[in-house]
Amino acid sequence: MRGIILAGGSGTRLRPLTSVHSKQLLPVYDKPMVYYPLAVLMQSGVREILIISTPAHLEIYRELLGDGHKLGISLEYAVQDEPKGLAQALIIGQEFIGDQQVCLVLGDNIFYGHRLPDMLREEAHRLDGCTLFGYPVGDPERYGVAEMDEEGNILSLEEKPLKPKSNLAVTGLYMYDNEAVRRAIALEPSARGELEITDLNRTFVDEGRARLVNLGRGSAWFDTGTHDSLLEAATFVQILEKRQGIRISCLEEVAYRMGYIDHEQLCIIGKELSGSSSYGQYVIDLARQEAAEPVSPTPRAA
Ligand code: TTP
Repeated sequence: MRGIILAGGSGTRLRPLTSVHSKQLLPVYDKPMVYYPLAVLMQSGVREILIISTPAHLEIYRELLGDGHKLGISLEYAVQDEPKGLAQALIIGQEFIGDQQVCLVLGDNIFYGHRLPDMLREEAHRLDGCTLFGYPVGDPERYGVAEMDEEGNILSLEEKPLKPKSNLAVTGLYMYDNEAVRRAIALEPSARGELEITDLNRTFVDEGRARLVNLGRGSAWFDTGTHDSLLEAATFVQILEKRQGIRISCLEEVAYRMGYIDHEQLCIIGKELSGSSSYGQYVIDLARQEAAEPVSPTPRAA
């Protein structure tokens, strides 16, 4: 399965923070926002990832993350000239996707949950058609909303409905079979001139080949598109990290625990990050701890 992070858009709701800066590079407590969706893909077992951003910002992503070899993954980059909708990511990425399945994640979505990495790997394994991930919210009218029947089948998907039929928001994480590329190409732009992901997802719902996994209790999901939600996400990360003495979505730790890099590489990265940053110190401490008590890397939440 290939991965795509869509990190373009206009970020109008976050202006002036985003007047000259890419939204998905803004800090969420101790790391750039894009680290979080990247960690989600890495934890899903996806190692070949395409990052899509605007012509103005793409090079900054390349500077920050490089070709991914330090993390034992492969990163490629592509431009979205104008924000013409989420489904356009599959068209921009069509060569990169080739004949593979694809997991698309929005660059401003933050997921956290102890069971999440295992669950994502299971879902990637059983994928047939399209798999969406829902999360109950108090303000569903801001999101794509899924209406479900009692057996857990999707009855309808609506984009930012005035009268939502449920409180289940469709999050910015989507898994697709390869045919989604052809379907994205065939989509008609919506009234606002965008290739809507909800329209793409509906083609699978209509055939009964869309599954929705309710992330529900035990996990957290933030869409960081507004000033308040950005601060809430940062506060959540800060509280959890301080209380538990861990780091959420520390890419170096994820890469190590997933077995993408070995202990030697973890040490090298730790030194590069330098102990003067508490993030760097965390990586150094992890490398020391693992040298003292080496464990065979097993995938787990990080
Ligand atoms: P949105 O939050 O819907 O849009 P936005 O980021 O442009 O922000 P605003 O509404 O404040 O103007 O986008 C969701 C995510 O998808 C976000 O990470 C940006 C990204 N995106 C693209 O990369 N390309 C696009 O064409 C669109 C519509 C969004």
